Amino acid sequence: MMADDSSGAPAASQGCGAECEPREATYTYAESGALFRRAAQVIPCGIYGHLSPAPCTPVSAYPFFAERGRGARFWDVDGNEFIDYMCAYGPMILGYNHPVVDEAYQAQMRDGNALTCASRKMVELAEYLVDLVPMAGWAYFAKNGGDVTQYATMVARAATGRDKIIAIRGGYHGVEPWMQSPGHDGTIAEDHGNVIRIAWNDVAALEGAIAENPGRIAGFIATPYHHPSFADSEWPGDGYWARVETLLRKEGIVFIIDDVRCGFRLGLRGSNEYFGFTPDLICFCKALANGYPISALVGTDALKRDASKVFYTGSYWFSAAPMAAALACLEELKRIDGPKRMIETGTRLIEGLVAVARSHGFDLRATGAPSLPYLRLTDDESLMLHQDWCGECTRRGAYFTSHHNWFLSTAHTDEDLQRTWDIADDAFKAIRKNRAG
Ligand SMILES: Cc1ncc(COP(=O)(O)O)c(C=O)c1O
Repeated sequence: MMADDSSGAPAASQGCGAECEPREATYTYAESGALFRRAAQVIPCGIYGHLSPAPCTPVSAYPFFAERGRGARFWDVDGNEFIDYMCAYGPMILGYNHPVVDEAYQAQMRDGNALTCASRKMVELAEYLVDLVPMAGWAYFAKNGGDVTQYATMVARAATGRDKIIAIRGGYHGVEPWMQSPGHDGTIAEDHGNVIRIAWNDVAALEGAIAENPGRIAGFIATPYHHPSFADSEWPGDGYWARVETLLRKEGIVFIIDDVRCGFRLGLRGSNEYFGFTPDLICFCKALANGYPISALVGTDALKRDASKVFYTGSYWFSAAPMAAALACLEELKRIDGPKRMIETGTRLIEGLVAVARSHGFDLRATGAPSLPYLRLTDDESLMLHQDWCGECTRRGAYFTSHHNWFLSTAHTDEDLQRTWDIADDAFKAIRKNRAG
């Protein structure tokens, strides 16, 4: 447990008070830089997509390449060790190289992975998910989150014979052209022709979109709560989900929950259960197999026939080893009540960080679920102060991003939290010193 001083800040495990010099950030990234220069010669962007260095500002504070991971930590190619608060952007939930999950994966690999027929593990995993998730009557497997958010919209169209999808502005569902923000390179205006974007938490906007498109809306897709990048997360307002559910049922619109990011960090039965509503389809991915590649769409019995009408598949979608890993991961999360543990650890992490910030005269705001919180220093609306602080923490061994929500795992320990608070303390001293100088 953290020890508190009178300011409420966790006591530094070593060192002195707010007035003394910060321990210097010692991390440097020469090998990361060299590898990136090689990558840029042969790979567009060097590193693309969500692992691109672009949003990690200041860029000098971050490594680009990781060498290995263990538990809640990873090591970069320069040998720097990080307590990882990004968890591979969500997939790592039980800790890197978890022995139970890895053994399940390896055992299946020894038997066979991508074979000419589907595997027994596929049936077992579908049965497990149908038992685990109350609304689910069936499960369908793919690889990435975007595979199943796309499939969900196809099922909605097959079920209704309608064309339009309502989505939340600023929501992220993957990289299919219609999921990207209009104007992105490689997409065209027509990609968005059947997508209507409305504001989060706005039932009137949903009613308006339905009224303006009579008989045209196939599905509504949203995350369980709103977690955009570069902005605070937003919880559903009072009665929001109940009103949305009633409206969609009345209009015969398929209700899709994208649980790719929140899934298994709020509860194991679907994050909708946490908020008390029932969708028709739920998309899972990220944490489903502790890092092994698999995603799942689960749906109600009523949609099973329509799901079976849609042709949708991929070369590796039947790989048995990630299915074995998913089964082991879910069983382990259930055995240790993983979501409860991550919410508790996240709550303590945040309380400690907020208190450390306060002891240095800063206001650190946390939004979203404690198991995947978005943190932001409110003292500077431009985010630059927050970027500096996250960078100072990262260069001392607590890997924080400033643009994206963080992720907790069941592998984060009390020792990790104490070390993180110590690092945060030094980082606040450093940004005060930098700004003064
Ligand atoms: C909420 C949400 N939906 C869908 C996706 C897409 O998942 P993937 O990148 O595996 O296709 C993501 C990825 O970050 C996500 O956060």
